[in-house]
Amino acid sequence: QTNSSWGGRFAEATDAFVAEFTASIGFDQRLYRHDIQGSIAHATMLAECAVLTVAEKDTIVQGLLAVQADIEAGTLVWSVALEDVHMNIEAALTDKIGTVGKKLHTGRSRNDQIATDIRLYLRDAIDHLNGELTRLQHALIDLAGAEADTIMPGFTHLQTAQPVTFGHHLLAWNEMLQRDYERMIDCRKRVNILPLGAAALAGTTYPIDRARTAELLGFDRASENSLDSVSDRDFAIEFNHDGALIMMHLSRMSEELVLWASAQFNFIDLPDRFCTGSSIMPQKKNPDVPELVRGKTGRVYGNLFSLLTLMKSQPLAYNKDNQEDKEPIFDTIDTVAGCLRAFADMIPHIEAQREQMHTAAAGGYSTATDLADYLVKRGLPFRDAHEVVGASVAFGIVERKDLSELSLEQLQQFSSLIEADVFEVLTVEGSVAARDHFGGTAPNQVRAACLRAQVFLAQR
Ligand code: ARG
Repeated sequence: QTNSSWGGRFAEATDAFVAEFTASIGFDQRLYRHDIQGSIAHATMLAECAVLTVAEKDTIVQGLLAVQADIEAGTLVWSVALEDVHMNIEAALTDKIGTVGKKLHTGRSRNDQIATDIRLYLRDAIDHLNGELTRLQHALIDLAGAEADTIMPGFTHLQTAQPVTFGHHLLAWNEMLQRDYERMIDCRKRVNILPLGAAALAGTTYPIDRARTAELLGFDRASENSLDSVSDRDFAIEFNHDGALIMMHLSRMSEELVLWASAQFNFIDLPDRFCTGSSIMPQKKNPDVPELVRGKTGRVYGNLFSLLTLMKSQPLAYNKDNQEDKEPIFDTIDTVAGCLRAFADMIPHIEAQREQMHTAAAGGYSTATDLADYLVKRGLPFRDAHEVVGASVAFGIVERKDLSELSLEQLQQFSSLIEADVFEVLTVEGSVAARDHFGGTAPNQVRAACLRAQVFLAQR
Protein backbone atom coordinates (compact mmCIF):
# COMPACT_ATOMS: atom_id res chain seq x y z
CA GLN A 1 0.00 0.00 0.00
CA THR A 2 1.07 3.61 -0.40
CA ASN A 3 2.63 5.58 2.48
CA SER A 4 -0.16 6.99 4.64
CA SER A 5 1.65 10.33 5.08
CA TRP A 6 1.47 11.19 1.41
CA GLY A 7 -0.47 8.33 -0.17
CA GLY A 8 -3.09 10.64 -1.65
CA ARG A 9 -0.99 11.70 -4.57
CA PHE A 10 0.63 8.34 -5.27
CA ALA A 11 -0.58 5.59 -7.56
CA GLU A 12 1.83 2.93 -6.34
CA ALA A 13 3.68 2.06 -3.16
CA THR A 14 7.30 3.02 -2.59
CA ASP A 15 9.73 0.41 -3.93
CA ALA A 16 10.87 -1.74 -1.01
CA PHE A 17 14.53 -0.97 -1.54
CA VAL A 18 13.85 2.73 -2.00
CA ALA A 19 11.94 2.79 1.27
CA GLU A 20 14.94 1.23 2.98
CA PHE A 21 17.35 3.47 1.09
CA THR A 22 15.61 6.73 1.94
CA ALA A 23 14.75 5.92 5.56
CA SER A 24 16.65 7.58 8.38
CA ILE A 25 14.93 5.87 11.31
CA GLY A 26 17.98 3.64 11.83
CA PHE A 27 19.96 6.62 13.07
CA ASP A 28 17.59 9.53 13.73
CA GLN A 29 15.64 7.67 16.45
CA ARG A 30 18.31 9.15 18.69
CA LEU A 31 16.43 12.42 18.38
CA TYR A 32 13.20 11.11 19.89
CA ARG A 33 13.33 13.07 23.15
CA HIS A 34 14.09 16.33 21.41
CA ASP A 35 11.49 15.62 18.74
CA ILE A 36 8.85 15.15 21.42
CA GLN A 37 10.08 18.19 23.33
CA GLY A 38 9.66 20.26 20.15
CA SER A 39 6.22 18.79 19.43
CA ILE A 40 4.96 19.57 22.92
CA ALA A 41 6.07 23.19 22.57
CA HIS A 42 4.53 23.39 19.11
CA ALA A 43 1.18 22.02 20.31
CA THR A 44 1.23 24.30 23.34
CA MET A 45 1.81 27.35 21.16
CA LEU A 46 -0.93 26.24 18.71
CA ALA A 47 -3.40 26.02 21.59
CA GLU A 48 -2.41 29.44 22.90
CA CYS A 49 -3.00 30.81 19.41
CA ALA A 50 -6.39 29.00 19.26
CA VAL A 51 -5.32 26.84 16.31
CA LEU A 52 -5.90 23.81 18.54
CA THR A 53 -8.33 23.66 21.44
CA VAL A 54 -6.85 23.33 24.89
CA ALA A 55 -8.44 19.88 25.17
CA GLU A 56 -6.82 18.77 21.89
CA LYS A 57 -3.48 20.10 23.07
CA ASP A 58 -3.79 18.30 26.40
CA THR A 59 -4.61 15.03 24.67
CA ILE A 60 -1.67 15.46 22.31
CA VAL A 61 0.78 16.30 25.10
CA GLN A 62 -0.35 13.33 27.21
CA GLY A 63 -0.10 11.12 24.13
CA LEU A 64 3.40 12.32 23.32
CA LEU A 65 4.55 11.66 26.87
CA ALA A 66 3.06 8.17 26.66
CA VAL A 67 4.90 7.56 23.37
CA GLN A 68 8.11 8.71 25.03
CA ALA A 69 7.50 6.28 27.88
CA ASP A 70 7.00 3.47 25.34
CA ILE A 71 10.23 4.37 23.56
CA GLU A 72 12.13 4.39 26.82
CA ALA A 73 10.58 1.09 27.86
CA GLY A 74 11.69 -0.34 24.52
CA THR A 75 8.16 -1.27 23.48
CA LEU A 76 7.81 1.02 20.47
CA VAL A 77 8.75 -0.80 17.28
CA TRP A 78 10.41 1.59 14.82
CA SER A 79 9.15 1.17 11.30
CA VAL A 80 11.29 1.69 8.20
CA ALA A 81 8.10 2.23 6.19
CA LEU A 82 7.47 5.29 8.36
CA GLU A 83 10.87 6.57 7.23
CA ASP A 84 12.06 8.76 10.09
CA VAL A 85 11.70 9.56 13.76
CA HIS A 86 9.12 12.28 13.09
CA MET A 87 6.64 10.08 11.25
CA ASN A 88 7.21 7.14 13.58
CA ILE A 89 6.36 9.25 16.59
CA GLU A 90 3.38 10.87 14.90
CA ALA A 91 2.01 7.45 13.89
CA ALA A 92 2.53 6.11 17.42
CA LEU A 93 0.73 9.17 18.77
CA THR A 94 -2.26 8.69 16.48
CA ASP A 95 -2.36 5.00 17.41
CA LYS A 96 -2.61 6.05 21.03
CA ILE A 97 -4.99 9.01 20.97
CA GLY A 98 -6.82 8.62 17.68
CA THR A 99 -7.62 11.34 15.15
CA VAL A 100 -6.49 14.26 17.34
CA GLY A 101 -2.96 12.99 16.81
CA LYS A 102 -3.27 13.93 13.17
CA LYS A 103 -3.63 17.60 14.16
CA LEU A 104 -0.15 17.87 15.66
CA HIS A 105 1.51 18.54 12.32
CA THR A 106 -0.67 21.64 11.70
CA GLY A 107 1.46 24.60 10.60
CA ARG A 108 4.64 22.53 10.63
CA SER A 109 6.78 20.56 8.21
CA ARG A 110 9.40 17.94 8.84
CA ASN A 111 11.82 20.47 7.37
CA ASP A 112 11.53 22.94 10.24
CA GLN A 113 10.94 20.06 12.65
CA ILE A 114 14.25 18.35 11.92
CA ALA A 115 16.16 21.64 11.99
CA THR A 116 14.65 22.25 15.45
CA ASP A 117 15.44 18.73 16.67
CA ILE A 118 19.10 18.95 15.70
CA ARG A 119 19.46 22.33 17.35
CA LEU A 120 17.90 21.06 20.58
CA TYR A 121 20.09 17.97 20.43
CA LEU A 122 23.28 19.93 19.75
CA ARG A 123 22.53 22.37 22.52
CA ASP A 124 22.48 19.48 25.00
CA ALA A 125 25.58 18.00 23.42
CA ILE A 126 27.47 21.29 23.78
CA ASP A 127 26.48 21.52 27.44
CA HIS A 128 27.66 17.95 28.00
CA LEU A 129 30.96 18.49 26.17
CA ASN A 130 31.61 21.69 28.09
CA GLY A 131 31.03 19.77 31.33
CA GLU A 132 33.63 17.21 30.25
CA LEU A 133 36.03 19.95 29.13
CA THR A 134 35.67 21.56 32.55
CA ARG A 135 36.32 18.25 34.30
CA LEU A 136 39.47 17.75 32.24
CA GLN A 137 40.62 21.31 32.92
CA HIS A 138 40.22 20.77 36.66
CA ALA A 139 42.30 17.60 36.40
CA LEU A 140 45.07 19.42 34.51
CA ILE A 141 45.14 22.36 36.90
CA ASP A 142 45.26 20.09 39.96
CA LEU A 143 48.12 18.09 38.49
CA ALA A 144 49.90 21.29 37.45
CA GLY A 145 49.70 22.56 41.03
CA ALA A 146 51.20 19.32 42.32
CA GLU A 147 53.98 19.45 39.71
CA ALA A 148 54.77 23.18 39.87
CA ASP A 149 58.35 22.45 41.02
CA THR A 150 58.97 19.46 38.77
CA ILE A 151 61.55 20.29 36.16
CA MET A 152 61.53 18.72 32.71
CA PRO A 153 63.14 19.63 29.42
CA GLY A 154 61.13 21.98 27.24
CA PHE A 155 61.45 21.19 23.55
CA THR A 156 61.45 23.00 20.25
CA HIS A 157 61.86 20.86 17.13
CA LEU A 158 61.66 18.01 19.67
CA GLN A 159 65.23 18.92 20.63
CA THR A 160 66.03 19.95 24.20
CA ALA A 161 65.56 23.70 24.35
CA GLN A 162 65.25 25.09 27.89
CA PRO A 163 64.15 23.64 31.20
CA VAL A 164 60.48 24.17 32.04
CA THR A 165 58.29 22.99 34.87
CA PHE A 166 55.93 20.10 34.27
CA GLY A 167 53.17 22.21 35.82
CA HIS A 168 53.79 24.88 33.21
CA HIS A 169 53.47 22.32 30.42
CA LEU A 170 50.16 21.05 31.82
CA LEU A 171 48.84 24.59 32.05
CA ALA A 172 49.69 25.07 28.38
CA TRP A 173 47.29 22.21 27.67
CA ASN A 174 44.71 23.91 29.86
CA GLU A 175 44.93 27.05 27.73
CA MET A 176 44.06 25.05 24.60
CA LEU A 177 41.01 23.61 26.33
CA GLN A 178 39.99 26.99 27.66
CA ARG A 179 39.79 28.28 24.09
CA ASP A 180 37.82 25.16 23.12
CA TYR A 181 35.32 25.86 25.86
CA GLU A 182 34.92 29.47 24.75
CA ARG A 183 34.45 28.40 21.13
CA MET A 184 31.67 26.01 22.16
CA ILE A 185 29.95 28.77 24.14
CA ASP A 186 30.14 30.98 21.08
CA CYS A 187 28.82 28.24 18.78
CA ARG A 188 25.94 27.67 21.20
CA LYS A 189 24.68 31.19 20.48
CA ARG A 190 24.13 30.31 16.83
CA VAL A 191 22.72 26.86 17.68
CA ASN A 192 20.18 28.29 20.11
CA ILE A 193 17.82 29.85 17.55
CA LEU A 194 14.39 28.44 16.70
CA PRO A 195 13.66 27.43 13.08
CA LEU A 196 10.18 26.05 13.84
CA GLY A 197 7.46 28.03 12.11
CA ALA A 198 9.35 28.17 8.84
CA ALA A 199 7.25 25.11 7.95
CA ALA A 200 8.33 23.60 4.61
CA LEU A 201 10.15 26.76 3.45
CA ALA A 202 7.81 29.74 3.18
CA GLY A 203 6.16 29.92 6.58
CA THR A 204 2.57 28.97 7.37
CA THR A 205 -0.90 30.45 6.99
CA TYR A 206 -1.84 29.81 10.64
CA PRO A 207 -1.61 32.66 13.14
CA ILE A 208 1.37 31.17 14.98
CA ASP A 209 3.53 32.80 17.64
CA ARG A 210 7.10 31.81 16.95
CA ALA A 211 8.52 33.91 19.77
CA ARG A 212 6.37 31.89 22.17
CA THR A 213 7.63 28.57 20.82
CA ALA A 214 11.16 29.90 21.14
CA GLU A 215 10.51 30.83 24.74
CA LEU A 216 8.94 27.44 25.53
CA LEU A 217 12.01 25.65 24.17
CA GLY A 218 14.58 27.95 25.76
CA PHE A 219 15.78 29.34 22.44
CA ASP A 220 17.13 32.90 22.44
CA ARG A 221 14.88 33.90 19.54
CA ALA A 222 13.10 32.69 16.42
CA SER A 223 15.12 32.59 13.21
CA GLU A 224 14.73 35.54 10.85
CA ASN A 225 14.07 33.99 7.45
CA SER A 226 12.01 30.89 6.71
CA LEU A 227 14.08 29.80 3.69
CA ASP A 228 17.30 30.08 5.64
CA SER A 229 15.73 28.35 8.65
CA VAL A 230 15.15 25.04 6.88
CA SER A 231 18.32 25.09 4.78
CA ASP A 232 20.92 26.31 7.26
CA ARG A 233 23.33 23.76 8.71
CA ASP A 234 26.15 26.25 9.41
CA PHE A 235 25.70 25.70 13.12
CA ALA A 236 26.36 21.96 12.71
CA ILE A 237 29.48 22.61 10.66
CA GLU A 238 30.67 25.13 13.19
CA PHE A 239 30.05 22.65 16.00
CA ASN A 240 31.99 19.99 14.15
CA HIS A 241 34.81 22.44 13.51
CA ASP A 242 35.02 23.24 17.19
CA GLY A 243 35.00 19.50 17.91
CA ALA A 244 37.81 19.03 15.38
CA LEU A 245 39.91 21.60 17.22
CA ILE A 246 39.28 19.78 20.50
CA MET A 247 40.46 16.56 18.85
CA MET A 248 43.50 18.28 17.39
CA HIS A 249 44.41 19.44 20.89
CA LEU A 250 43.80 16.01 22.40
CA SER A 251 45.93 14.45 19.66
CA ARG A 252 48.83 16.72 20.56
CA MET A 253 48.50 15.83 24.23
CA SER A 254 48.21 12.16 23.27
CA GLU A 255 51.36 12.31 21.20
CA GLU A 256 53.30 13.74 24.13
CA LEU A 257 51.87 11.21 26.57
CA VAL A 258 52.83 8.36 24.24
CA LEU A 259 56.37 9.72 23.92
CA TRP A 260 56.72 10.38 27.63
CA ALA A 261 55.48 6.91 28.56
CA SER A 262 58.14 5.27 26.38
CA ALA A 263 61.20 3.70 27.98
CA GLN A 264 63.35 6.17 26.06
CA PHE A 265 61.74 9.21 27.73
CA ASN A 266 60.31 7.57 30.85
CA PHE A 267 58.87 10.90 32.05
CA ILE A 268 55.52 9.51 33.19
CA ASP A 269 53.82 6.35 34.26
CA LEU A 270 50.28 5.77 33.01
CA PRO A 271 48.01 3.75 35.30
CA ASP A 272 47.71 0.11 34.20
CA ARG A 273 43.96 0.40 33.81
CA PHE A 274 44.40 2.90 30.98
CA CYS A 275 46.85 0.66 29.14
CA THR A 276 46.82 -2.77 27.54
CA GLY A 277 49.37 -5.49 27.06
CA SER A 278 50.58 -7.49 24.12
CA SER A 279 49.44 -10.99 23.27
CA ILE A 280 52.98 -11.95 22.27
CA MET A 281 55.44 -9.65 24.08
CA PRO A 282 55.07 -10.24 27.81
CA GLN A 283 56.91 -7.05 28.83
CA LYS A 284 54.63 -4.66 26.98
CA LYS A 285 52.42 -1.96 28.47
CA ASN A 286 50.93 0.04 25.66
CA PRO A 287 49.46 3.55 26.05
CA ASP A 288 46.28 2.60 24.17
CA VAL A 289 44.06 5.38 25.43
CA PRO A 290 46.17 8.28 24.16
CA GLU A 291 46.96 6.36 20.97
CA LEU A 292 43.30 5.74 20.25
CA VAL A 293 42.38 9.35 20.98
CA ARG A 294 45.10 10.43 18.56
CA GLY A 295 43.66 8.05 15.99
CA LYS A 296 40.04 9.12 16.48
CA THR A 297 40.98 12.67 15.56
CA GLY A 298 40.82 11.57 11.93
CA ARG A 299 37.15 10.66 11.96
CA VAL A 300 36.13 14.00 13.44
CA TYR A 301 38.12 15.84 10.75
CA GLY A 302 36.39 13.55 8.25
CA ASN A 303 32.97 14.41 9.65
CA LEU A 304 33.76 18.11 9.27
CA PHE A 305 34.58 17.56 5.63
CA SER A 306 31.49 15.42 5.12
CA LEU A 307 29.29 18.22 6.40
CA LEU A 308 31.04 20.96 4.44
CA THR A 309 30.76 18.90 1.27
CA LEU A 310 27.16 17.94 2.05
CA MET A 311 26.18 21.60 2.08
CA LYS A 312 28.29 22.68 -0.88
CA SER A 313 26.22 24.02 -3.79
CA GLN A 314 22.87 23.06 -2.26
CA PRO A 315 20.14 25.26 -3.65
CA LEU A 316 17.66 26.77 -1.20
CA ALA A 317 15.75 25.59 0.66
CA TYR A 318 15.51 22.07 2.17
CA ASN A 319 16.93 19.16 0.20
CA LYS A 320 16.90 15.50 1.12
CA ASP A 321 20.69 15.67 1.12
CA ASN A 322 20.39 17.13 4.60
CA GLN A 323 19.31 13.81 6.00
CA GLU A 324 22.99 12.90 5.67
CA ASP A 325 23.96 15.43 8.34
CA LYS A 326 22.87 13.23 11.25
CA GLU A 327 25.49 10.49 11.26
CA PRO A 328 28.53 12.79 11.11
CA ILE A 329 27.04 15.00 13.82
CA PHE A 330 26.31 12.06 16.11
CA ASP A 331 29.68 10.48 15.44
CA THR A 332 31.47 13.72 16.29
CA ILE A 333 29.50 14.13 19.50
CA ASP A 334 30.19 10.53 20.58
CA THR A 335 33.85 10.66 19.63
CA VAL A 336 34.66 13.98 21.27
CA ALA A 337 32.65 13.11 24.40
CA GLY A 338 34.36 9.72 24.72
CA CYS A 339 37.85 11.14 24.24
CA LEU A 340 37.28 13.94 26.75
CA ARG A 341 35.92 11.46 29.24
CA ALA A 342 38.89 9.12 28.86
CA PHE A 343 41.30 12.03 29.33
CA ALA A 344 39.46 13.52 32.30
CA ASP A 345 39.48 10.08 33.97
CA MET A 346 43.13 9.35 33.15
CA ILE A 347 44.97 12.65 33.80
CA PRO A 348 44.59 12.67 37.61
CA HIS A 349 46.38 9.30 37.72
CA ILE A 350 49.43 10.22 35.69
CA GLU A 351 52.59 9.77 37.73
CA ALA A 352 55.49 12.04 36.95
CA GLN A 353 58.90 10.36 37.03
CA ARG A 354 60.45 13.44 38.56
CA GLU A 355 64.04 12.23 38.68
CA GLN A 356 64.03 11.11 35.07
CA MET A 357 62.56 14.43 34.02
CA HIS A 358 65.18 16.32 36.01
CA THR A 359 68.04 14.32 34.54
CA ALA A 360 66.72 14.87 31.04
CA ALA A 361 66.24 18.58 31.72
CA ALA A 362 69.84 18.93 32.81
CA GLY A 363 71.14 17.31 29.62
CA GLY A 364 71.27 18.70 26.13
CA TYR A 365 72.86 22.01 27.22
CA SER A 366 69.44 23.27 28.22
CA THR A 367 70.89 26.16 30.23
CA ALA A 368 72.98 27.58 27.39
CA THR A 369 70.58 30.51 26.99
CA ASP A 370 70.95 31.23 30.69
CA LEU A 371 74.71 31.50 30.27
CA ALA A 372 74.24 33.91 27.36
CA ASP A 373 71.84 36.01 29.45
CA TYR A 374 74.43 35.99 32.28
CA LEU A 375 77.06 37.47 29.94
CA VAL A 376 74.61 40.07 28.61
CA LYS A 377 73.90 41.20 32.15
CA ARG A 378 77.68 41.74 32.46
CA GLY A 379 77.78 44.00 29.43
CA LEU A 380 78.33 41.70 26.45
CA PRO A 381 75.97 42.31 23.48
CA PHE A 382 73.61 39.34 23.04
CA ARG A 383 75.00 38.27 19.64
CA ASP A 384 78.52 38.10 21.06
CA ALA A 385 77.26 36.22 24.11
CA HIS A 386 75.53 33.72 21.78
CA GLU A 387 78.86 33.13 20.02
CA VAL A 388 80.76 32.67 23.29
CA VAL A 389 78.24 30.17 24.64
CA GLY A 390 78.14 28.31 21.32
CA ALA A 391 81.91 27.80 21.60
CA SER A 392 81.54 26.64 25.24
CA VAL A 393 78.90 24.11 24.19
CA ALA A 394 81.14 22.81 21.39
CA PHE A 395 83.90 22.40 23.98
CA GLY A 396 81.51 20.62 26.34
CA ILE A 397 80.46 18.20 23.60
CA VAL A 398 84.11 17.27 22.98
CA GLU A 399 84.75 16.91 26.72
CA ARG A 400 81.43 15.02 27.16
CA LYS A 401 80.43 17.40 29.89
CA ASP A 402 77.45 19.63 30.57
CA LEU A 403 78.16 23.35 30.98
CA SER A 404 77.61 23.05 34.72
CA GLU A 405 80.25 20.30 34.85
CA LEU A 406 83.00 22.46 33.33
CA SER A 407 85.41 24.11 35.74
CA LEU A 408 85.43 27.88 36.25
CA GLU A 409 88.81 28.03 34.51
CA GLN A 410 87.51 26.08 31.52
CA LEU A 411 84.53 28.45 31.22
CA GLN A 412 86.71 31.52 31.60
CA GLN A 413 88.68 30.51 28.47
CA PHE A 414 85.62 31.69 26.55
CA SER A 415 84.96 34.94 28.42
CA SER A 416 86.71 36.77 31.22
CA LEU A 417 83.28 38.07 32.32
CA ILE A 418 82.49 34.66 33.79
CA GLU A 419 82.86 34.41 37.56
CA ALA A 420 82.10 31.86 40.26
CA ASP A 421 78.42 32.88 40.50
CA VAL A 422 77.87 31.51 36.98
CA PHE A 423 77.02 28.08 38.40
CA GLU A 424 73.80 29.45 39.88
CA VAL A 425 72.42 30.16 36.43
CA LEU A 426 73.69 26.89 34.97
CA THR A 427 71.44 24.75 37.16
CA VAL A 428 67.99 23.84 35.89
CA GLU A 429 66.47 25.12 39.14
CA GLY A 430 68.09 28.52 38.60
CA SER A 431 67.02 28.51 34.97
CA VAL A 432 63.30 28.01 35.63
CA ALA A 433 63.23 30.22 38.74
CA ALA A 434 64.69 33.08 36.70
CA ARG A 435 61.74 33.10 34.29
CA ASP A 436 59.68 34.78 36.91
CA HIS A 437 57.17 36.97 35.11
CA PHE A 438 53.51 36.69 34.09
CA GLY A 439 53.25 33.67 31.76
CA GLY A 440 56.73 32.39 32.63
CA THR A 441 57.71 28.89 33.74
CA ALA A 442 59.00 29.73 37.27
CA PRO A 443 57.34 27.57 39.95
CA ASN A 444 55.99 30.76 41.58
CA GLN A 445 54.34 31.77 38.35
CA VAL A 446 52.90 28.29 37.82
CA ARG A 447 51.34 28.35 41.27
CA ALA A 448 49.86 31.79 40.61
CA ALA A 449 48.57 30.65 37.20
CA CYS A 450 46.92 27.58 38.81
CA LEU A 451 45.12 29.85 41.24
CA ARG A 452 43.91 32.15 38.48
CA ALA A 453 42.75 29.18 36.42
CA GLN A 454 40.87 27.74 39.38
CA VAL A 455 39.12 31.02 40.12
CA PHE A 456 38.25 31.28 36.44
CA LEU A 457 36.71 27.78 36.37
CA ALA A 458 34.78 28.45 39.55
CA GLN A 459 32.95 31.27 37.75
CA ARG A 460 31.41 28.90 35.18
N1 ARG B 1 14.47 12.70 7.74
C1 ARG B 1 14.54 14.01 7.20
C2 ARG B 1 15.91 14.63 7.50
O1 ARG B 1 16.61 14.05 8.22
C3 ARG B 1 13.48 14.88 7.81
C4 ARG B 1 13.04 15.97 6.91
C5 ARG B 1 12.45 15.36 5.70
N2 ARG B 1 11.77 16.31 4.91
C6 ARG B 1 11.37 16.00 3.68
N3 ARG B 1 10.72 16.89 3.04
N4 ARG B 1 11.68 14.86 3.12
O2 ARG B 1 16.28 15.66 6.99
